[in-house]
Amino acid sequence: MSRLIVVSNRVAKTDGATKGSEGGLAVGVMAAMEKAGGVWFGWSGKVENKNEPAKHEVRGNIEYVTVNLRQSEYNQYYKGYANSVLWPLFHQRPELMRYSDADLSGYLQANNKFANELLKIIQPDDTIWIHDYHLIPLGKMLRDAGIKNSIGFFLHTPFPSLDLLRTVPGYQKILKGLLHYDLVGFQTQADHMGFCMGVAQGLGGEILKNDRLRFEDRHCTARVYPISVETSALPEAATAGEASDEYKRLYNSLADRKLIIGVDRLDYSKGLVQRFQAYDKLLGHYKEFIRKAVYLQISPTSRGDVQAYGDLAKRIDREAGHIIGTYADFDWMPLRYLNRGFRRRTILAMYRLANVGLVTPLKDGMNLVAKEYVAAQNPENPGVLVLSELAGAADEFDSAVIVNPYDVSGITGGLAQALNMPLDERIDRWRKMMDVLEQHDIHAWQKSFLEDLHSLTHPQIAQAVN
Ligand code: F6P
Repeated sequence: MSRLIVVSNRVAKTDGATKGSEGGLAVGVMAAMEKAGGVWFGWSGKVENKNEPAKHEVRGNIEYVTVNLRQSEYNQYYKGYANSVLWPLFHQRPELMRYSDADLSGYLQANNKFANELLKIIQPDDTIWIHDYHLIPLGKMLRDAGIKNSIGFFLHTPFPSLDLLRTVPGYQKILKGLLHYDLVGFQTQADHMGFCMGVAQGLGGEILKNDRLRFEDRHCTARVYPISVETSALPEAATAGEASDEYKRLYNSLADRKLIIGVDRLDYSKGLVQRFQAYDKLLGHYKEFIRKAVYLQISPTSRGDVQAYGDLAKRIDREAGHIIGTYADFDWMPLRYLNRGFRRRTILAMYRLANVGLVTPLKDGMNLVAKEYVAAQNPENPGVLVLSELAGAADEFDSAVIVNPYDVSGITGGLAQALNMPLDERIDRWRKMMDVLEQHDIHAWQKSFLEDLHSLTHPQIAQAVN
C-alpha cells in the first residue's frame, strides 16, 4: 500500500473533540484518515510573517504537516480569491464576488508555497489527494515540478454551471486546472455535469467514454463520490455526549418542549435568514407551538473578516431579536441563538434529543450535518430531518421532509409537518435514510475514490487483480 498524502487548506486539529466551526471537509476527511493513516498537509490556521519551516506533528496514525500563512497570503488567497470569489461563485451568489487580479495572484502564490513544501515530503510511491476550492491549481504546479505520482482532487462544494462560471474573469483557468488531476471527484451529478459541460463548451474539450475528458494534451477522469459520515461510530459518540454537562442542562431546560436544532457555520450559503423567518411564521400561524417549541441554532462565527459574513451576522442578529422580542415570555425563550461551537459528541447528543433537524442551505455541496443528524437518532424514537432540496444530501435523502430553502412558507409548513409527524412515519422515513448511510459511509467514500484513482493510474495492476 502506498502512503496517502491528503492536502487541504485546513486540517482538523484533534480527534473530533473540537469546538466545531471547521465544516464538512475537516469532519469527513478526519474520519477517513483516522482509520487509513497517512500525512495530512495544510495551513496551520496561524498568520505569521516570519519564515518558519513546516511543522511536523504525529498524532495517532496521522502525521500533520502544517505551514503558516503570511498576512498578505491570508488576505489575498484565503480571504480574497478563495472565499470572496470561488466560495460565492460555487454557491450561486455571484453578486457577492469581490474579484481582483491581486487576489488571484495571491491565490496562485499560496498554492505555489504549498507545492514547494509538498515537494520536500513527497516520495515516489505516495498517493496524493488534494481537497477543495482553495487548491485547484496545486495539481498542475506539482506536475510542472516533475511529480509523476497519482494525484486526485475532491471538491467539497458545489460546482457551478458554465453560465455562472463565466461570471469570473479567467474562468477557463479553473477548468484547465482541474484537468491536470488523474481523477476529480464531485458531490453530485449536477456538479459533475457542470464541470463536463464547462470543459466541453467553455474550453472546446471532449467528453470521452468512462467519464474521461480530454482537452488538448490533457486527460482526466471526473466522477461523483457523495461524501458521507462514520455511520457506525456516531450513535456511540452521541451516547457519550449525553454524559456532558451541557447536554444535561439542555435536556433539563426543555421541560418536555419540542426541540428544533440547526447547526451551521455562520455562512450566507446556509439560508439562516429564511430559516429564522420560517420559524417566526411558525409561531405566528401555528399557535399550538407557542411555549411548546424551542429552536436552538448553533452557528459559530466563520470567516468573520470577510465583509459578506459580517453583514450576514448583523442581519441574523436582527432576525433573532425580532423573534425573541415578539414571542419570548419571562419563562419561555422560543429561540436560543449561539455563536459558538461545542464538542462534537455533545452536538451529536443534542441531535438525538432534537425532534427536528433543520438543515436549509440555499446551496450546499453535501451538508454533513444532515447525515450526522440522521445517524445520531434513536431508532425507536427518531427525529425528523427537514432538508433543503439544494443541499447535495437531498439527492440521497428523498425521505426527509424536503423544502425549498427560498420558500419561507414552505419551510414553515415542513416544520409543522415534522413537529406533528406520527411515530410510525418518523421511523419509516428515518430507516430509509439510515439504509443509505449504512451502505455508504465515510470509509466507503474514501475507498471508492482511492481505488478508482489507483486503477486509473495503475491499469495493469488493476487488471491483474480483477
Ligand atoms: O466544507 C467546506 C469548507 O469550505 C472547507 O473547505 C473548509 O475547511 C470549511 O468549509 C470551513 O471553512 P473555513 O476553513 O474557511 O473556516
